[in-house]
Amino acid sequence: MDSRMAMAMTKSEPASPRHVCLTGGGTLLVLDLCEGERAQIVYAGPDLGAVDPVELDLLSKRQHAPGGPTEPIALSLLNAIGTGHPSPPGLLAHAGGQHWSLDPRIVSIVRSEEHSCTIVTRDEASRICADHTITLGPESGVASFASKIRNEGDVSLWLEWCAAACLPLDESLTRVTSFTGRWASEFQTEMHDLVRGSFLRENRAGRTSHDSYPGLYLGTPTTGDAQGLACALHLGWSGNHRLRVDRLADNTSSIQAGELLLPGEIKLAPGETYTTPMLHACWSSQGYGDITRRLHRFVRTRLPQPDAPRPVHYNTWEAVYFDHSPEKLFALAERAAAVGAERFVLDDGWFGARRSDRAGLGDWFVAEDVYPDGLKPLADHVRSLGMEFGLWFEPEMVNPDSELYRAHPDWVLGVEGLEPIASRNQLPLDLTRPEVCDYLFERIDALVRELGIAYIKWDMNRDLQHPGGQDGRAIVHDQVRALYDLIDRIRAAHSDLVIESCSSGGARADYGILARTDRVWTSDNNDARYRHAIMRGGAHFLPLPVLGNHVGPKRCHTTGRRFDMAFRAGTAVFGHMGMELDLADESEADRAVLAKAIALHKRHRGLIHGGDYHRLETPPHIGGIGTVSPDKDEALFQIAVLEQHPGTQPPRIRFAGLDPDKRYRLECIWPDAMGGEQGPFAGSALIHYGLQMPLTWPDTCLIYHLEAVE
Ligand code: GLA
Repeated sequence: MDSRMAMAMTKSEPASPRHVCLTGGGTLLVLDLCEGERAQIVYAGPDLGAVDPVELDLLSKRQHAPGGPTEPIALSLLNAIGTGHPSPPGLLAHAGGQHWSLDPRIVSIVRSEEHSCTIVTRDEASRICADHTITLGPESGVASFASKIRNEGDVSLWLEWCAAACLPLDESLTRVTSFTGRWASEFQTEMHDLVRGSFLRENRAGRTSHDSYPGLYLGTPTTGDAQGLACALHLGWSGNHRLRVDRLADNTSSIQAGELLLPGEIKLAPGETYTTPMLHACWSSQGYGDITRRLHRFVRTRLPQPDAPRPVHYNTWEAVYFDHSPEKLFALAERAAAVGAERFVLDDGWFGARRSDRAGLGDWFVAEDVYPDGLKPLADHVRSLGMEFGLWFEPEMVNPDSELYRAHPDWVLGVEGLEPIASRNQLPLDLTRPEVCDYLFERIDALVRELGIAYIKWDMNRDLQHPGGQDGRAIVHDQVRALYDLIDRIRAAHSDLVIESCSSGGARADYGILARTDRVWTSDNNDARYRHAIMRGGAHFLPLPVLGNHVGPKRCHTTGRRFDMAFRAGTAVFGHMGMELDLADESEADRAVLAKAIALHKRHRGLIHGGDYHRLETPPHIGGIGTVSPDKDEALFQIAVLEQHPGTQPPRIRFAGLDPDKRYRLECIWPDAMGGEQGPFAGSALIHYGLQMPLTWPDTCLIYHLEAVE
């Protein structure tokens, strides 16, 4: 049977054998695939129901535009330059200046699983092949695209750019939300209106970066959280990237994303291949909120330990910084356990000569002068208090003032003739050298075994400005792959080990790293007022169980602002809760408030981490989010008053995600004094009319619990 015929499938059996439909999770992809022709996506978006793809062709038929090609040129999966399409090409490669005008055509189509297919294309002149894989998440509806370039020619091929895919974008999606930030101010959202031309985000930080998050949301001018056509894309990659949206004079738009390659970074000898990172995309006709929930569903299924519990953390960083002593840490562990911590994470400063950030990085041996009996007594003490023991590492880096660097000055990345750029007194190690990863694996593996480590905070605290390898070539791509391999190797040796991706807080929080780590440290900024915006921004792509959220000291170390414990603790309840403060510096009354918030988090942890996430539409001085159980019987909402109310009274809060036909009993369960059950009220009234907020001071975080009644 013709392979194309075998591809005709799903509920909307296409009448035309050219068309392939993939459906799943409310998404429809219609591909036009015919041997000898280009691979095209006719439609990518919310499922249209029983539609014949031929109709889509007819509906989108255009007249000849004077001055242009006689026959319209359609966008193809890589929009290679030889096709003549006016959008920027998704594939730029050449063989020493020859064979640059590529135009790959379909050789074969293989459908490997129900929701996925592989399309093999080849440019006959150059013998360059591009294999495309497309997989649709059956529940989330998130589509994942990757391209693999194979050099079947007999001369080397220089690859300058290869997108994971070029996707058509509905022409009404003209509003872009992008995500930017800096250290201690991560996941800021910015909205832009598309003009004719290009919207471009490029990252050369050598890590996912603070300033250019590899994801975008797109909507129409009227799309909101609960209504309207929306789309999101995300590149699952922890290195350099490029995302672009291009809008042409004919009103068509397209999106593409891939790894940004540095000059000469990828050269494919005959027979060699390059595979792009994965581009994940999803669509909804029900607004940005539905997009967020789809992405959350998708991420949850891909985490290495999706069902692992999320123990409440105690992290030592802001309590002791580099000033470690067993006595202090034993006492901290006791105080942490007393307020309800379930995991104790010993942060930076436990190894080598690491008494400041100027020395010792890379020497992964317990500091004997600080811990004369090693770390075992502390780890055992932590466990005797009923907590897991976790440890901080920054494996990819070295201080020049370290034993490791003195022994192996050649193990670092760099570019001959260029002074290394100073950044936190450290240099990146070259992970592509097997001896570097062998050393790191041996050290981490030995410590995990010796100390019974259950959790690693994997940090990475600088950009790679000069990512040159031993032969002088740029090697960010190889460095990222080597990092992934190292983590995979550690995880294979310790299947229960949980790893957090930290990177200065928030600078490596992409879906590539999240296929091998279970948590991200969202931000070093524990300022409870600011944290609401950071969490809200991050949650556009990352579900609450992944986003670390800690109670900080009463005077915030990154902003100098002071907040009471009820606000700090209520803020951290929504996320993977933890704390990062000197508990001895808090009053007994405040420690009791903290213990209550932790107990509240534990009581509702299943709902916070397993429910559907909703952003509430509130005035700008109020932050409102919530999580609703899949059966809509229970919900928890967090309403944070971040500034003074402009009027004499606060607004009514309209709850989202409830069942309009159910009735809910409602209780404000935080802060303590605000208690008292209300209702039951009709779900429709809570959604569309709302509940009058109590009059409170700014920096108050209210938590409402809602339960459906019979
Ligand atoms: C980074 C992390 C912090 C802490 C320090 C330790 O800044 O984001 O949480 O671990 O490094 O040096």
